[in-house]
Amino acid sequence: MGGRATPFGIDSDQLPECLTWLTRHPEVRLHGFHFHLMSHQLDADAHLALLARYFQQARQWREHFGLAINHLNVGGGIGINYREPPLQFDWPTFSTGLAALVNSENMQDWRIHFEPGRYLTAACGYT
Ligand SMILES: Cc1ncc(COP(=O)(O)O)c(C=O)c1O
Repeated sequence: MGGRATPFGIDSDQLPECLTWLTRHPEVRLHGFHFHLMSHQLDADAHLALLARYFQQARQWREHFGLAINHLNVGGGIGINYREPPLQFDWPTFSTGLAALVNSENMQDWRIHFEPGRYLTAACGYT
């Protein structure tokens, strides 16, 4: 998680300790990492820049710790423009940029998961 420590997630400083713990617990298998550092993002290019940092960090940890992982959950974070409803998150720019980013960051062998909350549910309460 971004910001201060919460009941969700762990501080990245604790990662070596967690990986050591995992070596003693083979019944728990690490498949990848899950980042959730942004909420209410309206700028597709800024979100792509954030994902680029996630990709670099995940790859760096995979290489540094010699992990056999290929899953990355990039969380949610896509916003809703309540003030200017016609100007919503630019999905065409984001999806085109994402395809390019996956190639330029060598993420082709990863499975990338998204879990948008606000963007999918905001309209449900509207009549
Ligand atoms: C771990 C995690 N994933 C996804 C979401 C959904 O976030 P959003 O509504 O910004 O898409 C949240 C919201 O708090 C979250 O904590």
